[in-house]
Amino acid sequence: MLVSVKEMLNKAREGKYAVGQFNINNLEWTKAILLSAQENNSPVILGVSEGAGKYMGGYNTVVGMVNGLLKDLKITVPVALHLDHGSYEGSLQVIEAGFSSVMFDGSHYSIEENIAKTKEIVRIAGEKGLSVEAEVGSIGGEEDGVVGGGEVADPAECKLVADLGVTILAAGIGNIHGKYPANWKGLNFEVLAAIKALTGDVPLVLHGGTGIPEDMIKKAISLGVAKINVNTECQLVFAAATRKYIEAGKDLTGKGFDPRKLLGPGFEAIKATVTEKIVLFGSVNKA
Ligand code: 13P
Repeated sequence: MLVSVKEMLNKAREGKYAVGQFNINNLEWTKAILLSAQENNSPVILGVSEGAGKYMGGYNTVVGMVNGLLKDLKITVPVALHLDHGSYEGSLQVIEAGFSSVMFDGSHYSIEENIAKTKEIVRIAGEKGLSVEAEVGSIGGEEDGVVGGGEVADPAECKLVADLGVTILAAGIGNIHGKYPANWKGLNFEVLAAIKALTGDVPLVLHGGTGIPEDMIKKAISLGVAKINVNTECQLVFAAATRKYIEAGKDLTGKGFDPRKLLGPGFEAIKATVTEKIVLFGSVNKA
């Protein structure tokens, strides 16, 4: 059964580890992430961007696929199905479809409008027992066509949003989606500490988990980060493994590739990457 992120992330914050959010794009990714979490006895969060939701056929399809896999693969660790960077309308749609968690990303609105809309989503999601992630400030890089400037959040604004009763809070601290530029200055731990001091017990979320050095990941967790999002790294290893398989030409039988064999190496590569992250974030045996 899908669960909200509330309990798993409160436990993570208290225990000083983080739970990974891994974005899904299809059956193979979803299965790889769920099997890795189960083998490591770790809670896990499946992230779905609006674009990925559309690609997979729609939110009802995603819910059906994930619930089916939980049953057929006998997954017993806590799993949350979470909308990643949702619009207001998208948030309402996944609440209806049966997701267990939603991120309403109002960071591109004025703080007043972000607060008003976040408050509404907290109320509607709360009635159905879903957790809500809100975002303050802008996270850099590009995610599904949304571009940000690598900005850092204002801790006072973070407090205003945290006080709305959100379950978890994403705040820009110099993190960027995708690959980090060579001249990247690193995470801004002063801002993270200031946000933590003002927001208290609300678990914090670190987006842009690909390419952040391990020591920075560990320091962020020690300062209150309890959820770390990873997407690009899975894309990179999936593409590299698939390319290698095709270039090796192993299965060119004249009938084309066997799709199950073709996607196998990418599936294994994602599984290995997710396991690596679960170990790094410290959520092994925290189910
Ligand atoms: P990366 O693509 O940099 O791993 O970031 C993922 C993310 O933050 C999803 O919201």
